[in-house]
Amino acid sequence: MSSHDDTVSLSLEDICKQFGPVKAVDGINLDIRQDEFFALLGPSGSGKTTLLRIIAGLEHPTSGRVMVGGQDVTFMPPYHRRIGMVFQNFLLFPHKTVAENIVFPLRMQNIGKAQRDDRLSWAIQLLRLQGLEARYPHELSGGQQQRVSLARGLISRPALLLLDEPLANLDRELRAEMEIEIRRYQKELKIPFIYVTHNQEEALTMSDRIAVMRNGVFEQVGNRTEVYQKPKTVFVAGFVGQSNQMEGKVDKVNGGFLAFTWQGKKLVVPHAGDAKTGELVRFMIKHEDVQIEVASRKSAIPGNHNSIPGKLRDIIFKGQTVNYLVDLEGGMEIVASGSPRDMTLAAGDLVFAFWSQDTGSSFKLG
Ligand SMILES: Nc1ncnc2c1ncn2[C@@H]1O[C@H](COP(=O)(O)OP(=O)(O)O)[C@@H](O)[C@H]1O
Ligand SMILES: [Mg+2]
Repeated sequence: MSSHDDTVSLSLEDICKQFGPVKAVDGINLDIRQDEFFALLGPSGSGKTTLLRIIAGLEHPTSGRVMVGGQDVTFMPPYHRRIGMVFQNFLLFPHKTVAENIVFPLRMQNIGKAQRDDRLSWAIQLLRLQGLEARYPHELSGGQQQRVSLARGLISRPALLLLDEPLANLDRELRAEMEIEIRRYQKELKIPFIYVTHNQEEALTMSDRIAVMRNGVFEQVGNRTEVYQKPKTVFVAGFVGQSNQMEGKVDKVNGGFLAFTWQGKKLVVPHAGDAKTGELVRFMIKHEDVQIEVASRKSAIPGNHNSIPGKLRDIIFKGQTVNYLVDLEGGMEIVASGSPRDMTLAAGDLVFAFWSQDTGSSFKLG
């Protein structure tokens, strides 16, 4: 594989991990590049933590190899791997000060005081913890505690940092702040971070690349745009972003497009898979790719667009964006999301939900 490519710092080769009857990790191959922020995104139980623990050496795979810099480290003990870890529950020692917590890994490695002090001031500076060195964890805010935890993960100058849902216990505002900060540390340090989360927004905000994991396998690996705009599976399309779903039987396939009927309306959508005429497909389109127009202005909807009539049920303000909930005849609903520019719309208005025929993804079902 790529073991002689020095832009690759970590390679996973066909990693499997079985716990009794459970295949927690089921054939993972991955090359992590130097300098990249990589997210492992998946629902609870998809195998993210198990994979991270295998990379760290806290768990041995049932089969497969972990390679670092071309060297097989599959059975190398964790403390020889130059890998740092940060966990969800910060696990700070309550009776140790900030400084003592941070240098703890260096004490374990019997590193002398001069070097410990050196590293400590480096980490304190990087994580902006100046003035807090003598405090105890209970005297810190949640964000400060998390920064101490990060400092401890980085104090040994690891070649790779693993983070397992480190922000899951923080409130929303603080989380958003820490997302930006953690990404900044990664860019400053120029070592790869592998960041585990079940939160798709977090993954999209922070990462250069994302692996979407489910049932121990990667459903898709790609950059943010690919995973968001070109989902390879129904699961990825549903898990990343917010989508409308429509199902129907294919009426016609024409090059890169297919036509199907939904709620009595003929829709033309992109055709990337192998669905044939008569087969069942699911079409998925992100909320923000759907627009609405009042029924009286139907002629303003450009050609090459699908449009479906309905009634505006509600307008939900979400800061920078607005969600329009449109009830269709037959009880279905479509959500359109956009900027709150058209303030003349009101609940009860007759509208058309419309979108470009080359937007969205279709998947063959069954
Ligand atoms: N030590 C273990 N013993 C038995 N089953 C485990 C163990 N660790 C994890 N599992 C199982 O493996 C699967 C993946 O777990 P995990 O890696 O923790 O997922 P995630 O971190 O994505 O939530 C789950 O079904 C979980 O119950
Ligand atoms: Mg986990």
